[in-house]
Amino acid sequence: MKEKKLIINSSNNPFSLFKEWFDEAQKNEINDPNAMNLSTISKSNFPSSRMVLLKDFDDRGFVFYTNIKSKKGKDIINNPNVSLNFHWKSITKQVRIEGKAISVSDKEADKYFNSRPKESRIGAWASNQSSKMNNREDLIEKYNFYKEKFKEDSIPRPDYWSGFRVAPILIEFWQDMPFRLHDRLEFIKINNKWKRKKLFP
Ligand SMILES: Cc1cc2nc3c(=O)[nH]c(=O)nc-3n(C[C@H](O)[C@H](O)[C@H](O)COP(=O)(O)O)c2cc1C
Repeated sequence: MKEKKLIINSSNNPFSLFKEWFDEAQKNEINDPNAMNLSTISKSNFPSSRMVLLKDFDDRGFVFYTNIKSKKGKDIINNPNVSLNFHWKSITKQVRIEGKAISVSDKEADKYFNSRPKESRIGAWASNQSSKMNNREDLIEKYNFYKEKFKEDSIPRPDYWSGFRVAPILIEFWQDMPFRLHDRLEFIKINNKWKRKKLFP
């Protein structure tokens, strides 16, 4: 592994720094360098976490796709405050993000949906994500039903399947350092400007 530079010497823009780290993770992580933990808050104020895949990012935020009627989808519609967490084991780095999840446009969701393999698009039709399933055969049956239904046609995006962009107000970079004297840098958005501060490990 190449020697780490202290984050404080890195970019002043958290998105450029994220890109730098994400590029490094993509080169080193065995699989799913774009996997991130997403935490949401339920109506009864309980946190809930699961992994999702980062599909796009820029200065506006971090995009993932899902079934908006799923547990996470319902949580977000009730309370858009969410957090994300990346941990890239291969490069011993972590990024923590807090912000608001905002629906992507239909056009953006269509574009991504249409880029997915046919089987995944059929799968989106077949799964009532996070609803009770009596047995797996029900899922396979539904999959085969939609496979047949869309045999001749293009597969439209289900209206319950879309993306969220997490617009961050906080991004924290953490990297492992010898003797647990880890290196942390927190960016907070105040009046539309990113302010940075170092944190004790
Ligand atoms: C590495 C990994 C990536 C995943 N990516 C996604 C994703 O991008 N979108 C999604 O809806 N579920 C994804 N899942 C499944 C979710 O973790 C979760 O099981 C599912 O979305 C239902 O979550 P919910 O009941 O909290 O809504 C992924 C799981 C793993 C382990």
